[in-house]
Amino acid sequence: LNIKYFTDQLLHWYPLHQRDLPWRSTDDPYIIWLSEIILQQTRVTQGLPYFYLFLEKFPDVFSLAKATEEEVMRCWQGLGYYSRARNLHRCAKEIVADHGGQFPDNYHELLKLKGVGSYTAAAIASFAFKEKVAVLDGNVFRVLSRYFGISEDISGTSGKKTFQKLANEVIPDDLSDVYNQAVMEFGALQCVPRSPVCKECPLALRCFAYQHQAVEQLPYKTKR
Ligand code: ADE
Repeated sequence: LNIKYFTDQLLHWYPLHQRDLPWRSTDDPYIIWLSEIILQQTRVTQGLPYFYLFLEKFPDVFSLAKATEEEVMRCWQGLGYYSRARNLHRCAKEIVADHGGQFPDNYHELLKLKGVGSYTAAAIASFAFKEKVAVLDGNVFRVLSRYFGISEDISGTSGKKTFQKLANEVIPDDLSDVYNQAVMEFGALQCVPRSPVCKECPLALRCFAYQHQAVEQLPYKTKR
């Protein structure tokens, strides 16, 4: 009952509040992969100009694979975490050399790619191929921990497993890709880390953290 309320409310909230972001209007795995690598450890407003620059200079995986490392690094200049750029380039080469330029079309194969971890594999599988896999990022941890009242530490392996299991129970059969965008966007815009406006939240009625005055205490993490 609480799960259905949660997903229904998020799917209702999302079209009313979502930001219009360019990678949301495509199911091209190259574009989705590129956006997700750029957005790791990076805010949307900071990442957007780089996203457009990369798409302009490297419109597909072949042009990126053919570029020199210097060209790729020059485009990445200023974004930080430079191993992401090196892995981006290596992954493009790998997709051309080993996959004929086609992205693998499922979570488990995507996970084998250079620089693609569980979050990025899930995002590509969900948004490009509509596979029913739950994405878990900082936003999703926060929303799930507050609504369902999960106080397990999200820094450790066991906590991550708990949340992955919960996320897989919550994700709906229909519109799983829209739901994934919705829960991330809800964490980014409404269920924010500090001082969320719970009085305006469509989940407040059944939110464990709100009902128990524990919003600022969740999610629990030892490492910051
Ligand atoms: N941050 C990481 N992935 C994102 C996405 N798909 N939409 C918005 N923000 C994001």
